Amino acid sequence: MSTSLTPTPADRFTFGLWTVGYSGTDPFGGPTRPSLDVVHVVEKLAELGAMGLTFHDDDLFAFGSSNAQRQTQIDRLKAALADTGLRVPMVTTNLFSAPVFKDGGFTSNDRAVRRFALRKVLRNLDLAAELGATTFVMWGGREGAEYDAAKDIRQALARYKEAVDLLSQYVLDKGYGIRFAIEPKPNEPRGDILLPTVGHALAFISSLEHPEMVGLNPEVGHEQMAGLNFQAGIAQALYHGKLFHIDLNGQRGIKYDQDLVFGHGDLHNAFALVDLLENGGAGGGAAYDGPLHFDYKPSRTEDEDGVWASAAANMRTYLLLKERARAFRADPEVQEALAAARVPELAQPTLGDGEGYEGLLADRGAYEDFDAGAYLGGHGFGFVRLQQLATEHLLGAR
Ligand code: GCO
Ligand code: MN
Ligand code: MN
Repeated sequence: MSTSLTPTPADRFTFGLWTVGYSGTDPFGGPTRPSLDVVHVVEKLAELGAMGLTFHDDDLFAFGSSNAQRQTQIDRLKAALADTGLRVPMVTTNLFSAPVFKDGGFTSNDRAVRRFALRKVLRNLDLAAELGATTFVMWGGREGAEYDAAKDIRQALARYKEAVDLLSQYVLDKGYGIRFAIEPKPNEPRGDILLPTVGHALAFISSLEHPEMVGLNPEVGHEQMAGLNFQAGIAQALYHGKLFHIDLNGQRGIKYDQDLVFGHGDLHNAFALVDLLENGGAGGGAAYDGPLHFDYKPSRTEDEDGVWASAAANMRTYLLLKERARAFRADPEVQEALAAARVPELAQPTLGDGEGYEGLLADRGAYEDFDAGAYLGGHGFGFVRLQQLATEHLLGAR
């Protein structure tokens, strides 16, 4: 293998403090592991070869902390970062755990809650800038409803826009080098969440005052919970220049948000995703150069050794898939199968240079003399052969 399977910071792997820090609490049971201290987490992640740590304000200092308690935790984090060289490329705000956010933050029906939420985020933006983060994720887990009459969706979207516009203006005025990344999710914890998919969020972004400052942080499991193809969603985010960040994990079908290790869900789609990120750019280069962020949960069956083994598994699986995707692209038979499947032909414009509908209408070969009947029983695309070649590379059989 030409690619090293030992992660280094150059691989740009990052983890949320809430991921490895997950102590196993779910709706049916309490913790199965003690909570982990942030300094220990930073040291372990650095040892495993990660580049960075991300966190919600409330992960680092509990909701309601005094200024002194908050500052102590920030100082402890900063010291650990300085000791290890780990970075904080992304920060996010918890607008979902505290009781005050039971109906959301930016879109709560209660205006006082909305104002409180904005203040919490503004404070956290200052911290993000102080730590050198360049991406600020907004996951609106509680922005939604269970009951149709309970939420005026059009007004909720207007309040969401009001919030993002205000935060964008703040970043501009302060001169912070921060971009926002909205994270779609269809449901959980709310019955229905606003901006449920990549597509909904893209449409919302185009309504903002500063759309150039706002992109996406799509998560594997969230799109798959909606039955959607994650790799295809990422391709569309890239097409619109909106892939600002990414949450990698694993999900097995349309059910609750599983947050499994990356690749421990739909492995074919994970392979296609890594191939897109690593080989889908101009001239076959990388299509994305931001952090590769794992938003997973070490299963509650694991002890602390299992936590670090699962963290390492995320990175190793990514690197394995990267190696497999490289071999797939380098295989002459794959190149031949891609050509036979006419994949490169899709890059050719449908109309000729300068051609409009008049030229198209005058082209007898396009219609009058075109043999559409030949497609019955002929002109197969060979897509299945291509998928089998991908499968064989994925299985290490080629
Ligand atoms: C979830 C989300 C969160 C967000 C996080 C960052 O389903 O719980 O994926 O983990 O990614 O809140 O904003
Ligand atoms: Mn999730
Ligand atoms: Mn996430």
